[in-house]
Amino acid sequence: MKKIAVLASGGNSQGMNNAVLGVLKHCAHLGITSYVVQDGYRGLCENKIFALNYQAALPKTRNKSGGIFIGSSRYPAFVDQHVKAKGVANLKQHKIDGLVVVGGNGSYQGAHGLAQLGINCIGVPGTVDNDISTSDFTIGFDTAANYILQVIDQVRDTAEAHERCIIMEVMGRHCGDLATYAGVAGLVDLIITRDNFLEIGAVIDYVKVCADHKYRSVIVLVTENLYDVGVIAKMVEKATHYTARALVLGHAQRGGCPSMRDR
Ligand code: F6P
Repeated sequence: MKKIAVLASGGNSQGMNNAVLGVLKHCAHLGITSYVVQDGYRGLCENKIFALNYQAALPKTRNKSGGIFIGSSRYPAFVDQHVKAKGVANLKQHKIDGLVVVGGNGSYQGAHGLAQLGINCIGVPGTVDNDISTSDFTIGFDTAANYILQVIDQVRDTAEAHERCIIMEVMGRHCGDLATYAGVAGLVDLIITRDNFLEIGAVIDYVKVCADHKYRSVIVLVTENLYDVGVIAKMVEKATHYTARALVLGHAQRGGCPSMRDR
């Protein structure tokens, strides 16, 4: 192999910069010319492929936090064979022998498709969701989980002050790991994921039990795509003495300085 390219794809995750740098550094070590593809698979099809070595990349990334300096994209059109063929043609035009894809589930599927078209591909698990079955932990998960943990601690302060129930929704797409790890560490009262699903009635019953135990605050942590947390909060207010608030953490979970583990 003489030339290798690296791209990031899908939702960014903290630590992706370090993963890309790691590829460039190793290429330099092996005497391989390194390329980056800007903006993921979309950039691949638009031929945004540039030679970039480790030394040149370092100043661009060293002070960056959770973003990804080469950009990323969601590019659903990439499932189409003709679109993928464009990407293959662009790689061949640059005489690139292999592609490293940093991303999550969908990005791995894209890499698999490219491999079927004859491109040597390696996937590096980069997603906050921790939903890559062949990896114990994905790059970004640790930082995102610790951010959630910090929010749990902070939210509990205000919930305790006001006798409140907080229904907090975190990312993960369909994977419950962010909720589970952060929720266990943060000693929340109830964790709901797709693997541990409760009907809303059962959630309310559980909050009632917390009220019976005279807890001043209740924190319910749920994975996204399961409920409307605003609806649950309203139902909790009707059924218990707690005032309730819904909190959707959203994209802040994908930003910030990567933890040592993610770097
Ligand atoms: O896959 C990472 C992720 O942050 C998921 O947790 C979430 O469902 C999704 O991406 C959000 O996607 P977007 O950034 O396109 O809104």
